[in-house]
Amino acid sequence: MTTSSTTGGAPTGADAPLLTARGVQRKFGGLVAVDVEEFHVRRGTITALIGPNGAGKSTFFNLLTGFDRADAGSWQLDGRTVTGLPAYRLAQQGMVRTFQLTRSLADLTLEENVLLAARGQRGERLAGALFGRASWRRQEADNTERARELLARFGLERMAAEPAGVLSGGQRKLLEMARALMCEPRLLLLDEPMAGVNPRLVETLLDHIRQVRADGTTILFVEHDMDVVAGISDDVVCMAFGTVLATGSPEQVMRDPEVIDAYLGSDEPDDDAATAAGTERRA
Ligand SMILES: Nc1ncnc2c1ncn2[C@@H]1O[C@H](COP(=O)(O)OP(=O)(O)OP(=O)(O)O)[C@@H](O)[C@H]1O
Ligand SMILES: [Mg+2]
Repeated sequence: MTTSSTTGGAPTGADAPLLTARGVQRKFGGLVAVDVEEFHVRRGTITALIGPNGAGKSTFFNLLTGFDRADAGSWQLDGRTVTGLPAYRLAQQGMVRTFQLTRSLADLTLEENVLLAARGQRGERLAGALFGRASWRRQEADNTERARELLARFGLERMAAEPAGVLSGGQRKLLEMARALMCEPRLLLLDEPMAGVNPRLVETLLDHIRQVRADGTTILFVEHDMDVVAGISDDVVCMAFGTVLATGSPEQVMRDPEVIDAYLGSDEPDDDAATAAGTERRA
């Protein structure tokens, strides 16, 4: 006997996907940027979202995480409908993201950047109002301790009091991960966590991602490097022209003829020209 059961063929309980999405659409004028009929992320996995430039990966992330509004569709986190919820409500439900272009606040210290992620997302204000200043202070102290632990975990503790502006691209990615983990997410969405990262730091970053999964957080990440995808992912979803082309194991998806075509059609040596050509086809 397993702990899960089935209802109408859909798995429930421990076997049910952590995230499911159906019929998600987003248009920009005449351009259909996202048109995803069916998408899911299995609990406890690292799932890679791949696809050529302009495929709609970041837009899909923006919709799922409340940074943009879908024209249609619905999605569920752990069986609860979270369609269209703003980002801070999603964070409260356990769904947190990072950005393709990092968004750390350059003038704030690393510690302040990480602490900021906790404020307002775990109801501190409410706790203060309900239980008074002592409780609020205790929570602040707990938050500070957790922020310091996270900075230490990512090897940034010695820079905790430095402004985030001094960090390298790779260190900023680590800071973003620390910030996201401050909210103790069940699902962490990373948009190109390896982009702009010094190759020497990539392995470190991958180890951190594996550790986050080992700690019980499910991960969905966007990545272009197929070696990275093959090396770390349990599942892969490939998007092109806004739609899902293929879903499966890394091996299945990477030998899918449609996936190969999508990449051959865009991944020319001159990446800019290929992107422009891709945009033209969709216009
Ligand atoms: N705010 C916007 N207004 C108009 N068009 C947009 C907007 N955001 C994205 N697009 C278009 O939607 C399409 C999907 O873009 P998106 O950034 O989601 O792709 P992507 O798969 O993340 O690409 P990349 O790998 O280059 O990051 C592209 O054609 C893009 O130009
Ligand atoms: Mg993108």
